[in-house]
Amino acid sequence: MKKRNLRILFVDGPNLNVLGSREPSMYGKETLPDIRRAVTAVARREGATVTFFQSNHEGEIVERLQQARSDSDGVVINPAGYTHTSVAIRDALLFAGVPTIEVHLSNPAKREEFRKVSLVEDVVAGRICGLGGYGYTLALQALLHRLRGAKTRARG
Ligand code: DQA
Repeated sequence: MKKRNLRILFVDGPNLNVLGSREPSMYGKETLPDIRRAVTAVARREGATVTFFQSNHEGEIVERLQQARSDSDGVVINPAGYTHTSVAIRDALLFAGVPTIEVHLSNPAKREEFRKVSLVEDVVAGRICGLGGYGYTLALQALLHRLRGAKTRARG
């Protein structure tokens, strides 16, 4: 019997819809559609199914993550500004209960103090920061590696 593709959901938080024109010296010139195109190309090669969701509204992100419990095998999330504030998104990730990678285009550790706090960092499998849009593709590969049962992973 043919195995079904792994289903990976990409969730982007507020202000990531304006990537490319938003603080390009910080976030680069790549747009969200550019990043999604690159991710889709890799997903096709890997035999994975990717779905994309972006919202500027916390409750909509919570609702999409709740749905992920039944329609996704893994999540890649850039919670953007909500990274540093949202207990609700953290709780929704716990409810979703699927392996998750946190991605940031910039490296929050090099920025303002308030960005050094992530309310989701301890409920995700891993984090990729500071590598721009390429981080999304790396996150997809890392999730597939994990979901396919690689025995070499560290605990977490
Ligand atoms: C971000 C970092 C956050 O601190 C910021 O609020 C963002 C983008 C990043 O991808 O580097 O909106 O998540």
